[in-house]
Amino acid sequence: MLVAGRPEGKLLSSQMKEALRYGALSLAVIVGLTLAIVPFAHSLIEQWSRHDVEQRSRLVYNSIQGSVVRAMADDAWERLGSIFEGVAQDDRILAVGLCDEKGGLIEPTRLMPRTFSCEKVARSEAESFSNISSDGRRVLVGAFPIVDRAHKAYLIVLHDLSFIDARSGEAQTFFVAALAGVALTIMGVSAVFAAFLLRGWMGALRLAVEEARFGGPALSSRRERSALDKEIVKLLREAEVGRVPIETGQIEWSPATLQNLLREALPGAEVLIVSNREPYIHNRSDGGVVVQTPASGLVSALEPVIRACGGTWIAHGSGDADRETVDERDRIAVPPEAPAYSLRRIWISEEEQDGYYYGLANEGLWPLCHIAFVRPVFREADWRAYEKINERFAEAVAREAQTDDPIVLVQDYHFALAPRMIRERLPKATIIAFWHIPWPNAETFGICPWKERIIEGLLGCTILGFHTRFHCNNFFETVDRFVESRIDREHGTVTLGGHETFVRAYPISIDWPPKALAAQPSVEECRLQTRRSLGLASDVMLAVGIERFDYTKGILDRMKAVDLLLTLDPSLKGRFVFVQAAAPTRSRLPTYSRLQSEAQELAREINARHGDESYRPIRLVIRHHEPAEVFGLFRAADLCIVSSLHDGMNLVAKEFVASRDDEQGVLVLSSFTGASREMAEALIVNPYNIQEMAEAIGMALRIPANEQRERMRLMRQRVRERNVYRWAGQMLIDAARSRQQRRILDIAEKNQRR
Ligand code: F6P
Repeated sequence: MLVAGRPEGKLLSSQMKEALRYGALSLAVIVGLTLAIVPFAHSLIEQWSRHDVEQRSRLVYNSIQGSVVRAMADDAWERLGSIFEGVAQDDRILAVGLCDEKGGLIEPTRLMPRTFSCEKVARSEAESFSNISSDGRRVLVGAFPIVDRAHKAYLIVLHDLSFIDARSGEAQTFFVAALAGVALTIMGVSAVFAAFLLRGWMGALRLAVEEARFGGPALSSRRERSALDKEIVKLLREAEVGRVPIETGQIEWSPATLQNLLREALPGAEVLIVSNREPYIHNRSDGGVVVQTPASGLVSALEPVIRACGGTWIAHGSGDADRETVDERDRIAVPPEAPAYSLRRIWISEEEQDGYYYGLANEGLWPLCHIAFVRPVFREADWRAYEKINERFAEAVAREAQTDDPIVLVQDYHFALAPRMIRERLPKATIIAFWHIPWPNAETFGICPWKERIIEGLLGCTILGFHTRFHCNNFFETVDRFVESRIDREHGTVTLGGHETFVRAYPISIDWPPKALAAQPSVEECRLQTRRSLGLASDVMLAVGIERFDYTKGILDRMKAVDLLLTLDPSLKGRFVFVQAAAPTRSRLPTYSRLQSEAQELAREINARHGDESYRPIRLVIRHHEPAEVFGLFRAADLCIVSSLHDGMNLVAKEFVASRDDEQGVLVLSSFTGASREMAEALIVNPYNIQEMAEAIGMALRIPANEQRERMRLMRQRVRERNVYRWAGQMLIDAARSRQQRRILDIAEKNQRR
């Protein structure tokens, strides 16, 4: 079971079952009592009534014995007859008579049954009682000896016993009615009691869940907590419902694990991804339409995930042949070679793109969050375009969703407003927003004119993810500074307008083993091929840097470090080359185009300073590289330089490590990347310190093979364990918990309203 704690359905049904069991038990007890008591009561009534009748008979005997003896002595038989008729007036007495010694019946009263015979009367000295039947009735015959000087006879008193049956029947009816009344009362009382218990329990549960989610002091001050509350809070805390990360370290994360997770913890859940960059771009070329995989960490992380889960990826259709490759609903099944999910393209005009993507996202938020000392630019028109495009994507999510509670994975700083906009359209959706770039401190974020709107937009989501705990803390600080909300730092939640967002670090990663590795030749082969294509001798040491041409990547700084290294150690000249593969990106923005020309200029300078006609220490290759080419370069290299001035994670570092199944190669890594927190075995550098970086590169070239192996092995192990399936899996586990919590609260609320 992935979700800790007792499921609310079970809790409720067990309460209901207990109430029902209680009622059924009462009923069984009542029925049992009835079945046991009725025959017993019947025989008791029989005994009591018989005893009563016998007493009456005796009474009759005692009261008329004298008169009978006198009448017998006087032989006054008519007198005897009238005495008997007088006695027989009593309703209960059926008949009276006298049996003589010879068995003759003397002066029987009118109703004396014909079946009665004195022959059968016991002739004993003492009184006796016997039963006869007359016309289907039971009759008790009492015989009392009467002796005078001349005669011996028996006074016979007959009682009709049918009243006993009637009395017993009445008593039975009364018993059953009384016990049924008791049963109903017990059941009614227990139902009311159970309802009260349930209501109290639900109230306690609701408050306890709230307390477990939002923390204790606020709640405990609301009222004295009962033992039940405390117990529930304890259980929830023990179960850590939605609060503490599940220890996922032991799980081997793979596409299959992710699929199992979805099946078990989120059965039937629909997955939608929202991102600006699309995973497959169709472009026209001389040979027709070609499919391109963009240079994007976001895409390389999410693509394997959605391949595993299936679903719909909603993204900007940016290729010049994108429109002609989609269907009438702007969809295309991808990956082209083996379709596994649907790509829904959104069209954005040039003008909108200028405002939303180039303007607000990349001239405003990008430099704001990266603190690479490029001044952010904020324009009102850009903001309006940003709002409009966020609306467009939110609308597309609502249209594409086939259920009312999909899991929507909103990606990056292009869509800070979309979570709230999606929430308005799909209130039950589980929205997970992931911020792929750093989140700066509150002071810095305060520069943004629409800071409150951005924060409020993001707080529309269920889960908000950053790469590191440090960025989460910066976010809390920023929220605290600019928005009226409730922040629970201990449990990592922010509540705004009654909606709670769980904020947590999910370090992003890559596919393991990476798809691009599959078709790679051996490392030896890659080394030879790459050196051959660069016109280098096979023993030349090679350093590589591969990324988008972005000023945050510290490309100029690493080139300067190479420059310094060659100055410090001229023996490397001719023996060492640095290849910088850089994919043009956002080139319409002056900062980016300037960077390209600066880098080209710097490369020329360095090459001029340290090289000659046959040796160029810096090779700057400005073009897009497909993943297979990137992996070929990684495998050919002796070291990889990742010198970002600031980077949320940096997947290049992880890809380099993943590419080295020979366990060789050294990683020089900036301490300002999220990756440096997971890859301590790299040579960690401050990219602003050129001297330090030059020394690190020099050192990397000297690290012996056995040490390289030890370092690489540890890094590979970590990247394998913390791969991108774990990244997505952790978010989905938290999403499953959040959905379960929501259900508990919904049930509790419903019960409280009743
Ligand atoms: O680093 C943030 C990010 O969105 C990455 O996820 C991605 O690699 C890159 O920026 C893509 O930038 P763009 O889509 O503008 O080329």
